[in-house]
Amino acid sequence: MENTITVAIAGLGNRGRWTYAELLRRCREMNARVVAVADPVADRRAEAAAAFGLPESACWADAADLLAGPRLADVLFVCTQDRQHTAHALAGLAKGYHLLLEKPVSPFLADCRAIAAAAHAAGRQVAVCHVLRYTPFFGYIHDVIASGRIGEVVSIQQIENVAYWHQAHSFVRGNWRRQDETSPMILQKSCHDMDILLWLAGRHCRRVSSFGSLRHFRPAHAPAGSAARCSDCTVRESCPYDAYTIYLTGEKTGILAGNDDWPCNVLAQHPTEATVRAAIETGPYGRCVYHCDNDVVDHQVVNLELDDGVTVSFTMCGFTSAHGRTVKVMGTRGDIWGDIEQNLIRVNEFGKPEQVVDVTALAEDLSGHGGGDRRLLADFLNSVRQGKASGLLTGIDASLESHYVALAAEHSRLHGGACVELDTFVRAAQP
Ligand SMILES: NC(=O)c1ccc[n+]([C@@H]2O[C@H](COP(=O)([O-])OP(=O)(O)OC[C@H]3O[C@@H](n4cnc5c(N)ncnc54)[C@H](O)[C@@H]3O)[C@@H](O)[C@H]2O)c1
Repeated sequence: MENTITVAIAGLGNRGRWTYAELLRRCREMNARVVAVADPVADRRAEAAAAFGLPESACWADAADLLAGPRLADVLFVCTQDRQHTAHALAGLAKGYHLLLEKPVSPFLADCRAIAAAAHAAGRQVAVCHVLRYTPFFGYIHDVIASGRIGEVVSIQQIENVAYWHQAHSFVRGNWRRQDETSPMILQKSCHDMDILLWLAGRHCRRVSSFGSLRHFRPAHAPAGSAARCSDCTVRESCPYDAYTIYLTGEKTGILAGNDDWPCNVLAQHPTEATVRAAIETGPYGRCVYHCDNDVVDHQVVNLELDDGVTVSFTMCGFTSAHGRTVKVMGTRGDIWGDIEQNLIRVNEFGKPEQVVDVTALAEDLSGHGGGDRRLLADFLNSVRQGKASGLLTGIDASLESHYVALAAEHSRLHGGACVELDTFVRAAQP
């Protein structure tokens, strides 16, 4: 097909293979073809080779090896773990790839700047996967604000409901549980929120303060009768974090309830009752949540002061039954309330009847981060095809302020909630 974009993928995990590559496989209209992949897990390479018809010579065990030779594709998807992004992104840019770069860009501020500088020097496009900007939900709220219906934005309140089982899965037992191996949770989970809040407010951030801690998931809170693994626990039936409940019978999460997608596909390449049960019994996801080696927070609040005195109050919390975000935007002539999980937005212009918006009526496909994954990918491919980054909503320059704010929030949290001047903080981190 004419104008087909060729794609190399670093990291065939949940994002690289099961989000972006799967979208390319299913949506022919994206007109892009996977031509090379890298992942150290042989099963993942074999699966991708079969799915995309790749010869063994196009499948690498390490992204560094894929990137050592000549450029193999137009674009590189950087979907490895947080601390690997910098090396893979810089090597990719040096070889002339355009990048679809997973968030967080890097847990290190200087690395974020280095990637942006390299993208400019190479004249290549970098889309950071801040998928929320591409959701019909936040897009609609952004449009209402831009229309002036609620006047000038004065304050925004947002809550990220992590959900108790997601907290346990990713931030207690899973890949993002330790700050020294990955990123602070406020960056890892909530650079999305910082990005969307700055985008909605249309203002730059001046000052940041934050509090939070790892309050609950520690040995001191282990109930009597618990054990190192759920398989040996005598009180697991009364524990909401029981791995058998989350991964086997959980209504939204369990394989026996028909979910063979995330999070079950993190436990097993081919999730079935037997493979998931085996993973619980032998792997990291069967560990007691009170006896893991986790150290990232389980709750954190952040306050921002933006230009023109606009304020933002944000809460990220693992102790919620629901998943997803709620937002309230308060303007001089009205307010907007929204719940992305419920696909519901309420717009109130002061003194006028409320407008209730059913987000499901705004778009046909809300799968994958409320429809954000597919739209972000399509926009990136179109930008590359047209040779201009101007249309990209989440280019590297637009995306980095969210990272600076999240890193400043973490700095504040670690310094007793001290107020951090963002400009000074960013300048101090120059290489
Ligand atoms: N945009 C979003 O909303 C969103 C959502 C979830 C995760 N993420 C981000 O995406 C990234 C990947 O997350 P994931 O959930 O797919 O993790 P994952 O663990 O499922 O996938 C990472 C993959 O990288 C592979 N890998 C490790 N070392 C490698 C190397 N040297 N070369 C090539 N591959 C290598 C691993 O084997 C694994 O398959 C993370 O940075 C994460 O923060 C973004």
